[in-house]
Formats: sequence, structure tokens, C-alpha cells
Amino acid sequence: MGEKKTTVELMNELLEAERSGVIIYEQMSFLSSRKDVNRVFCMIRNNESRDCGILHSLISRREVKPSDNMNGFADKLLALEDEKERIELAIKGCAWVAEKITEFSEADLTEEERDFLVGMHRQHIWNIGVMREFLNLE
Ligand SMILES: [Fe+2]
Repeated sequence: MGEKKTTVELMNELLEAERSGVIIYEQMSFLSSRKDVNRVFCMIRNNESRDCGILHSLISRREVKPSDNMNGFADKLLALEDEKERIELAIKGCAWVAEKITEFSEADLTEEERDFLVGMHRQHIWNIGVMREFLNLE
């Protein structure tokens, strides 16, 4: 325990999480009857998908094979039948990603990687805010 992860290990973990995110937000958008929620989830899905592509190329550029896996978060979240519970768990997932991004050692990142991760962090904090608003609207 406590073994520090390498930069590419962390990137691969994020890649597996963002793949889950694509499935999650696609489904949450589909399942929601509210148009405003629907649109935001579609937008988040697109961001997750974009993150997958960029992470894939950043990992490849470090001459490491990008993971082919998806983490188990989508199965866990989509097993929930209540929309409020799904949103609550999705908020936790975004908080997990934001926290994970803070584990990177800045010194080992290129400027491009750092800029991408800063943006990805900001996006996930934004996701948390908008999903909290959805919960309050109910
Ligand atoms: Fe995500």
C-alpha cells in the first residue's frame, strides 16, 4: 500500500474512468425525461469521450500501451434505478477523478499534459456543480 503510481499508470486509470463516463452520461442522458438534464449529460458525455482520445494519445506518446479496459463504475452506477441516486453517485465519480488528478507529480508532466489535466480537473468540478443543481431542482 502507499506505492506511488507512475504518471502513465495514473493516466491509464483516468482513461478507464473516462470510458466508463462515456457510457454513464450517454445512458443518463437517454434515461432522463428532463430536456435541460438531457442536454447537459450529452455535453458531459462528449467531454468524457474527448478526454479518452487525448489520454490515449498522451499515453501512446510516452511509448506505453494505453489500457483497453473500462473501470467497473458504469455497471455499478447504471444498476441504480433512481435518477437521484445515479446523479449522487456520478458526483462522487467526478470527485474521484478530480482527486486522482491531484496525484500527478507536476514535475513529470509536459506542458501539454499539465494543461490538459488542469482543464480536465476544472471540467469535473463543473460537472459536480451542475449535477448538484439538478438535485436541488427536484
Ligand atoms: Fe469523467
